[in-house]
Amino acid sequence: MTMSETPAPAGVPRRTGEPLPSDLRDAGERMDAEELRAHQLTGLRRTLRTAYDEVELYRRKFDEAGVRPEDCRTLEDLSRFPFTTKADLRETYPFGMFAVPMADVRRIHASSGTTGRPTVVGYTEGDISMWADMVARSIRAAGGRPGDKVHVAYGYGLFTGGLGAHYGAERAGCTVIPVSGGMTARQVQLIQDFQPEIIMVTPSYMLTLLDEFERQGVDPRGTSLRTGVFGAEPWTEEMRAEIEERVGIHAVDIYGLSEVIGPGVAQECVESKDGLHIWEDQFYPEIVDPVTDVIQAPGEEGELLFTSLTKEAMPVIRYRTRDLTRLLPGTARPAFRRMEKVTRRCDDMIILRGVNIFPSQVEEILLRTPGLAPHFQLRLGTRGRLDHMTVRVESRPGTATGQREAAGESVARAVKDGIGLSVEVEIVEPETLERSVGKIRRVVDERSRG
Ligand code: DLL
Repeated sequence: MTMSETPAPAGVPRRTGEPLPSDLRDAGERMDAEELRAHQLTGLRRTLRTAYDEVELYRRKFDEAGVRPEDCRTLEDLSRFPFTTKADLRETYPFGMFAVPMADVRRIHASSGTTGRPTVVGYTEGDISMWADMVARSIRAAGGRPGDKVHVAYGYGLFTGGLGAHYGAERAGCTVIPVSGGMTARQVQLIQDFQPEIIMVTPSYMLTLLDEFERQGVDPRGTSLRTGVFGAEPWTEEMRAEIEERVGIHAVDIYGLSEVIGPGVAQECVESKDGLHIWEDQFYPEIVDPVTDVIQAPGEEGELLFTSLTKEAMPVIRYRTRDLTRLLPGTARPAFRRMEKVTRRCDDMIILRGVNIFPSQVEEILLRTPGLAPHFQLRLGTRGRLDHMTVRVESRPGTATGQREAAGESVARAVKDGIGLSVEVEIVEPETLERSVGKIRRVVDERSRG
C-alpha cells in the first residue's frame, strides 16, 4: 500500500506547505546518508556498551544471548542483540533501567498503561535538550517558524505529550501557550483571544474542540490556526481529511513513545504529508515480524523497534513498540527513512469469532459514510455463546431518520464485505458519546471469558 497524498484543503494558507528552507535545518538534518550511517554506528556501539556496563537487565540479557557490545561492528550486527519489551521495564520498576546515578536524572515521566505497573522513564539534562531539539525539528517540519504561537493541548504531567511539545516549541523559537488538556470551552476562547498559528493536541481531542467551536457558534475555519500537529494515538487519512476540511488547516502527524523519548521520534513534513520521517540520527528503527521476530525487508509491514543512539539516562535497545508500520525511503528529508502512518498496534487487534479487525478499519468506513460523525465506540459483548460487536456511532447534526438508517446499513455492509464480519450498527444522537480530552479509548470489551 502506498501513502495517499492529501491535497491542502481549499483556502489553507500556502506558507506552511513550502519546503523548509535549508538554513532552518539543524546539523543532524543536514547529514547525508553516508554521514548518517557512520553517526548511527558510533551511537549504537556506545549505547550497547553503556547498556551492558550500567544496566543489570541488559547485561543479563546480552550474556544469555551470548553477545557482547564489541560484537556490533556494522549496523546489521544489531540484529544479534536481544529485544527489550514493556515487560522488562515493568520487571525493573521503577528505576532499574536507568544507566546513570539518580543525581543525574533531571526528570521522570511515566505512562499509566491499562494494566499493572506504569512504565517509568528518566532523562538527564542532555536527554531533555536532545528531546527539545527533536520536537523543535518536528515543529519546523510541520511548518512552524520562530515567532509562531503554539497552543499545546496535550496533557502536562507524567504523560510526555505536554512537556515534550512545550520544550520543543520553545526550542523552535515559538511562543508557547501551555493550556494542557481539559476545560474545552476555555480552550476555544483562548484560541480566539491569543490567536495561535499552531495547535498540538491528540486528533480525538481536536474533534472535541471542533464540536465546542460549533456549539459556541464560532466557525473554526475563521481562526488564526494554520497547522495542527496531531499524535499520541492512531488516526487515519480519513480523519486527516475531516479535520483539514472542518478547520481549514494542515493536519500533520507526530509520533513517539515515552520509552524512546516521547513525542518527536518521527514527524510528517507538511510539504509532502507522505508518512513520518524518523529522526534516525537519534532513534534507529527496525521492523520485525511480530510473531516470528524475523527482520522484515524494507517496505514490508511489521512491528516497529527502536534503539536509542545518544540517550543517557535510559538507553533502549531494540525496544518493541507494538506499533505496526513499514519503513519507506526518505522524500522531503532524503537521509531519513519514513515510516508509514501508524494506524494499528499489535495489541489493538480485536479477534472476534476468529476474524481480526482493527478499530482504524472501522474509522475509515465510518468517515466515508455520509451522515455519520467521527465519534464512535466499538462495544464487544457475549450473547449466548457467541461474541458480537456493536459499532456505536453518532450521526451528524441535522441528519434525517431515513439517512441515518441508510448509513447504518451501509456501514454494516462495508464491514461485512471489507472485513468479513457481521456487526450491529447503532446510530446515536449527536453529542451522546463520551468525548476525549487526551487519548481516546475506542473499544469497550465486555465479553465474558471462559
Ligand atoms: O503518546 C507520546 C506522544 C505524545 C506522541 C504526543 C505524539 C504526541 P506514550 O503515551 O508512551 O507516548 O504512547 C505511545 O502511542 O506506541 C503508539 O501506539 C501511540 N502513538 C503515539 N503517536 C502516534 C501517532 C506518547 N502519531 C504510543 N500515530 C505509541 C499512531 C501513535 N499512534
